[in-house]
Amino acid sequence: NPEDARLSKSYLFVAFAALLVGGILGLLQGLNRAGLLELPTWLNYYQVLTAHGLLLVLVLTAFFTIGYFYAGLSHTLGGLLPKVRKMAWIGFSMKLVGFVLAVIPIITNEASVLYTFYPPMAASPIYYVGLVFIVLGVWMCAFGAFINVANWRKNHRGQHLPILAFFATGVFVLLFFGSVPVAIEVLTIIPWASGWVETINVMVARTLFWAFGHTLVNIWYLTAVSAWYVIVPKIIGGRRWNDTLTRFVVIALVIMNIPGGFHHQIIDPGISESVKFVHVFMSLAIGFPSLMTAWAMFAVFERTGRKKGGKGLLGWIKKLPWGDVRFLAPMVAMIAFIPAGAGGIVQSTNQLNQVVHNTLWVVGHFHLTVGTSVMLTFFGISYWLVPYVSKRVLTPKINKLGVIQTFVWTAGMFLMAGAMHYVGLFGAPRRTSYTTYGDHATALGWDPYLLLLAVGGTLLIIGVLLQVYAVVHLMFFAPKGETEFPIAEEEENAPKTPYWTERWSRTILLMLLVVAMGYVIPMVDFIVNAPPGSPPFKTW
Ligand code: HEM
Repeated sequence: NPEDARLSKSYLFVAFAALLVGGILGLLQGLNRAGLLELPTWLNYYQVLTAHGLLLVLVLTAFFTIGYFYAGLSHTLGGLLPKVRKMAWIGFSMKLVGFVLAVIPIITNEASVLYTFYPPMAASPIYYVGLVFIVLGVWMCAFGAFINVANWRKNHRGQHLPILAFFATGVFVLLFFGSVPVAIEVLTIIPWASGWVETINVMVARTLFWAFGHTLVNIWYLTAVSAWYVIVPKIIGGRRWNDTLTRFVVIALVIMNIPGGFHHQIIDPGISESVKFVHVFMSLAIGFPSLMTAWAMFAVFERTGRKKGGKGLLGWIKKLPWGDVRFLAPMVAMIAFIPAGAGGIVQSTNQLNQVVHNTLWVVGHFHLTVGTSVMLTFFGISYWLVPYVSKRVLTPKINKLGVIQTFVWTAGMFLMAGAMHYVGLFGAPRRTSYTTYGDHATALGWDPYLLLLAVGGTLLIIGVLLQVYAVVHLMFFAPKGETEFPIAEEEENAPKTPYWTERWSRTILLMLLVVAMGYVIPMVDFIVNAPPGSPPFKTW
């Protein structure tokens, strides 16, 4: 449907525009941290860092996810309902208005509070009003998706939701329930930042933020995983892995996700040891569906490679289409997820977290997870989704450019995230512009790694430019034609998927129970035993 295509295309356009601007800001930070660039007096490091975080982890990812899944819903459910399309456009406008409202105080240096906006740091209230609009815009899209899915189910009683729509439902459930805590947080911050109430409970605010923040991480991850299970097997000429396992992975990720946020607070004071212990377990539990995914994906690759004539222990690897960017980029993403996941386990483990907490290691970790695994998957998707919604085709030239982009991005992230991980172990702090702490020997020892970080960042900006060029070309200039929306078939003689997987109310109930297990005791504790609240600390 051309109208559905226009909707997704607009979402994707904003996503890649955010990549361009956010990437340039990232380079400024990288060069500054290495001591190679001094920012002009009218622009401070925290303005740049706030905008970089907001553009890349909120705007880019939200717009890409919604554009991709709305295209998937339209394709697999026989088109979007007119009212749903309208809701998605209203959501689009609300998110843009919210973004503009949030950016104005960042530009005037009245919101250098970073994308985590922890109280007692306070920004201009307009920043938070902007965030409210963004959340409301996301809810519009989530409810639009629910309406479309419910309508399909009403007309297809007893049938399983098509697999991509199943992933979309999981993601929108998480987007809605995950953003409820941040909406509550922002609504309590606005009166405080406006001076109508004097203090705020810092622990409650941080906890509400991370209930959202870490859910967001898993929303990106689940979006990437949907392409790994559903799209990549088709691109390599294979079939999807077991349908029941795939749906189970989605359900498990939805149920276990939200309390995962607590591991971001594992060093916070005011949380009892026993609660932290429960949360280490709850966070690590999220690793199990990821391990299932790793196993399933590599099994699909092996089966497909062997079917194509790959012999011996590893001969099947040669049969995979390494020259096809639609496969190469997500494949590198999956490989990067192995060290990325291991780093996540380190951070979720209380004792190990003490070594890396608030160091550049953590920044290295999320450039490996979201910056590499998620981004490379999104890039891989863009080489068929952008031409699909633009009624154009991927040419061999742009495919080649995509392959080069994948190498440049991988090398850039390897150097930058690698240097960040390493220098983090020597104590280099995150969120700090270049300083030698008065020529202290320890800080001087970080310099060579920070230089490597800047080299990686420079390669990455080349990667950003190549990627944005490819997207703009595929959107507006590539030859006209039909591009397939690649959805892999189930395996031959696949066992029948049990119907309990379709019981979303049960899944949501279990999710809420797990959320209650994770949050009721600490939240009551933070409120009942709260120390005196904090007045706002204005950053300007
Ligand atoms: C922070 C560089 C791409 C997400 C940073 C930092 C640097 C950097 C140097 C600051 C470290 C600090 O002082 O703590 C770059 C470069 C990029 C890039 C050069 C590519 C051109 C990305 C991408 C994402 C991302 C693609 C996510 C999709 C973040 C986030 C932060 C960050 C969330 C933390 C912001 C904060 O601490 O508030 N980046 N980055 N970056 N980056 Fe990137």
